[in-house]
Amino acid sequence: MTPILELRNITRIYGEGDNRVIAVDSVTLSLNRQEMLLIMGPSGSGKTTLLSMMGCILRPTDGEVIIDNKVVSDSDEDMLPDIRKQYFGFVFQSFNLFPSLTAVDNVELILRLKKHDRKKLQADALRLIERFGLAKRGDFYPSDMSGGEKQRVALARALAGDPPIILADEPTANLDSKTGLDVLRHLKGLAVEAQKAIVIVSHDPKAETMADRVVYLEDGKIKDK
Ligand SMILES: Nc1ncnc2c1ncn2[C@@H]1O[C@H](COP(=O)(O)OP(=O)(O)O)[C@@H](O)[C@H]1O
Ligand SMILES: [Mg+2]
Repeated sequence: MTPILELRNITRIYGEGDNRVIAVDSVTLSLNRQEMLLIMGPSGSGKTTLLSMMGCILRPTDGEVIIDNKVVSDSDEDMLPDIRKQYFGFVFQSFNLFPSLTAVDNVELILRLKKHDRKKLQADALRLIERFGLAKRGDFYPSDMSGGEKQRVALARALAGDPPIILADEPTANLDSKTGLDVLRHLKGLAVEAQKAIVIVSHDPKAETMADRVVYLEDGKIKDK
């Protein structure tokens, strides 16, 4: 089976001269369907930069990003939003929900952006919310939800439009241990039941026990452990 996503010798350099930083240094990595891959490493080791290049949010300085056997890293800038919409759902440490929208509307907005079937928009948003055990929170605004609830809304939103890959950057960093475990279990469930490829950046030892594979980054390089 071909990997859903491949990185071939990708490098990302920030700044120039004295400010030059090699954030990611010639990383080669592939991600399989239905796999939960964990990326670990100290602060500043390049995890977020790597994840951003995987998700076509950031362009590599060098190397290739390949999705579904297509090289996407040399795509025109105006193609990138469509590539992101088609292939990725994103989950962030800080949840990144729209504060002025309810839980259901946060999800529906993404479906709308993904040009989802208009008639089914609300029903589908509601179904996604319910799937994460938030049936009673659909009409709540982010400010009235707990951290764990907000992160589950973010998971529902990441799944909107049914992308094959979910990228999560420190999704449990702002949650207590029990709530974090709940979010990790949901992510694992997406790999197992919804057949998504999941990439998590985390320091959480619980994530380590759940992941199918762990990659350690140090100074932008993959470290053999
Ligand atoms: N936008 C940026 N401009 C300049 N340097 C950056 C930028 N983003 C990250 N860096 C640097 O790149 C390195 C890797 O950062 P990052 O990918 O955020 O690591 P991590 O997520 O593992 O903490 C760090 O040295 C960081 O300071
Ligand atoms: Mg980071």
